[in-house]
Amino acid sequence: MSRIIVVSNRTPGKGPAAGGLAVALRKTLAEREGFWFGWSGKLVETPSIEARFEDIDGLTVAQIDLNREDHHAYYAGFSNSILWPSFHLRLDLATIEAHWYEGYRRVNSQFARALLPQLKPDDIIWVHDYHLIPLATELRNLDVRNRIGFYLHIPFPTTDALYAIPHHGELMRDLSRYDLVGMQANRDVAAFTEFAEHQTPSTLSGSPLESVDFGRTEVAAFPIGSDPDAFAKLAVSSAANKMLKRMERAMGEQELILGVDRLDYSKGLPQRVEAYEKLLANNARFRRLVHLLQIAPPSRDSIKEYQETSDTLDAMCGRVMGRFAEPDWSPLTYVKRAYGQPSLAGLYRLARVGLVTPLRDGMNLVAHEYVGSQDPEDPGVLVLSRFAGAAEIFDDAILVNPFDTDETAEALRMALDMPLDERKQRWTTLMAAARKHSVDNWSKNYLDRLAPATPRDSSGT
Ligand code: G6P
Repeated sequence: MSRIIVVSNRTPGKGPAAGGLAVALRKTLAEREGFWFGWSGKLVETPSIEARFEDIDGLTVAQIDLNREDHHAYYAGFSNSILWPSFHLRLDLATIEAHWYEGYRRVNSQFARALLPQLKPDDIIWVHDYHLIPLATELRNLDVRNRIGFYLHIPFPTTDALYAIPHHGELMRDLSRYDLVGMQANRDVAAFTEFAEHQTPSTLSGSPLESVDFGRTEVAAFPIGSDPDAFAKLAVSSAANKMLKRMERAMGEQELILGVDRLDYSKGLPQRVEAYEKLLANNARFRRLVHLLQIAPPSRDSIKEYQETSDTLDAMCGRVMGRFAEPDWSPLTYVKRAYGQPSLAGLYRLARVGLVTPLRDGMNLVAHEYVGSQDPEDPGVLVLSRFAGAAEIFDDAILVNPFDTDETAEALRMALDMPLDERKQRWTTLMAAARKHSVDNWSKNYLDRLAPATPRDSSGT
């Protein structure tokens, strides 16, 4: 069987605990010979082009260092101040600095040059996420003929949002150099198709004057998942954990509402706190009987828009506390720290409501993990944004428009009032969907589609 080479910006063991990507792929690589290639986390003046190999808990990881200026342009700049906000339809939060694009391409070229000497002819290369869209082009330019797949973990933008991205024509041409482009949800494939079918030379910035030919690139939805049964086991075994025992005692009669998200503006955290505030304002009977725990590990905090989201959330949580807290009851706890999977699994199981309300999200693995962690005899209720990819597979959640905080407040009320029978019936369907879309099935489905092909020619067009 061919080796699998996974390529992503971060490699496992280095990322924040809340990131879903590392958790998702670790298992697949353990089963197939091969390695995971990415940035080492180190910034140096003149990086070596040679990758360093390391064994991280049984997984072979190859890493390169990056130059500080290039990394800034590539990561905080083009990837996270242009691509991330635009792909999440937050053009108002994008910052466009033209020179970032060169740094973005330089890092992709460096990835390709460091990867080249490590490749065997029948290796299957699987590239992950928006940081590395040009990698296939850079590899093809070095005469790499291997099968190369790309998977986008975030939503694909609408055509007009795509047009707002500098050099979007070149980026789309880069996508056409892959054999397979995988996306999270059908809505993303539909947005891609809309672009591919309506592009004209005049709409393609930064591109030679001809439309992009996607004729040799297959584009399809492969919704990612978690390992729901592993979460179920973890949730049971971690109940003995001291923090969880104290938490259970502290909750007493109160029902726990839980949110777990990177501190990112796409997650809709201020809207969520506002919805909770409305729940308490409109339903006095819940005061003293509910508690919101929001876990939000800081993320990308060198970027101004992330600092502002953090400040907004501080102020809103303070406002809700001032308005509703009493000397012996507080309506919410807000924690800016990452927790490991065992603690999270235990907390998910304690929570009567899993509140997952991103304004836009590729998939959202917290929704999957919450479902996996529930007690089948007394399951909680998932309140889920319609704009998360997860909404396409979890139709038995209470689906909400996260921009409409009255609707989310009402969904919270419904979830808290939901009788056990209905909770069980909804959860049974959700758990079946989580199992069907497990991370194992995801990687198997994707690789089955990418792997059995004949090598393409080096022109890659
Ligand atoms: C999202 C992205 C991942 C990224 C993760 C954490 O899930 O799709 O590619 O690794 O966020 O973000 P960070 O910028 O810290 O890597």
